[in-house]
Amino acid sequence: MTLPTMQPDLEEPGAAQLDAPPERKPEPHGRATFRIWRGDASGGGYVDYTTAVSVGMVVLDAVHQIQADQANDLAVRWNCKAGKCGSCSAEVNGKPRLMCMTRLSDIDLTKPVTIEPMRAFPPIRDLVTDVSWNYRVKQEIQPFTPRPPDAADGTWRIAQSDVDRVQEFRKCIECFLCQDVCHVLRDHQKHEEFIGPRFFVYTAALEMHPLDTGDRIPALREKYGVGYCNITKCCTAVCPEHITITDNAIIPLKERVVDEFFDPLGRLVRIFSRKGQVP
Ligand code: SF4
Ligand code: SF4
Ligand code: FES
Repeated sequence: MTLPTMQPDLEEPGAAQLDAPPERKPEPHGRATFRIWRGDASGGGYVDYTTAVSVGMVVLDAVHQIQADQANDLAVRWNCKAGKCGSCSAEVNGKPRLMCMTRLSDIDLTKPVTIEPMRAFPPIRDLVTDVSWNYRVKQEIQPFTPRPPDAADGTWRIAQSDVDRVQEFRKCIECFLCQDVCHVLRDHQKHEEFIGPRFFVYTAALEMHPLDTGDRIPALREKYGVGYCNITKCCTAVCPEHITITDNAIIPLKERVVDEFFDPLGRLVRIFSRKGQVP
């Protein structure tokens, strides 16, 4: 006796979607050409390398393969290969990217793939740039300055909503891709007058911290150059941690500068509600 087989009810709402295979991009295979910038502070140029590509590879894999097989002296900085150390920042086909998180399946491999060092910072060698300017900038920002503890045991009381507000800023991995893409640094070279989006995120994390009593508003206007930012949001677009740099960090900082310097009433309110007072 033949038992009747159960057929899926394709008329049932959603059944077709449940059975549909997940959308997949074609995985790379065969060979591809990578046009890598080679050189140092005195100058350089592009060199083409053709190498085998296969399923699951990222740009950093291709660079390592080229380094192993064809260019043992190719300089590249990396550490985690997991998108968490911020070391492998470069420009892939003209866009600031983490090489370890850029899948070859997302790139058109029918043309040479251009890989260059970040352009906002001085080249050291090949894909490695000198990002030490960022560390000097960070040292100049007033550090965390907490109010005295709220309780005798040395602890504080803070609202969860205040914690939530600054949480995203703490995801920064200091890859400096946002600094690289910002035209104020990249094109106008305002490194002496403008701290860049990464450090507006850092400053916002401190300014909005519920325990901090520091006041970085005058420095934001004068020394950190927040006025140079014209809110193009390019920094937000390249952040691998998806931090809402412009809307959640830079615009609130700009508003605080306006309140402090151009709105006398707002300034009075700010003085009376200044951070450091126990809510
Ligand atoms: S939004 Fe401001 S900080 Fe971000 S890239 Fe544009 S100009 Fe630079
Ligand atoms: S804010 Fe985003 S893009 Fe900028 S350094 Fe941090 S993680 Fe990188
Ligand atoms: S190697 Fe660490 S972020 Fe790419």
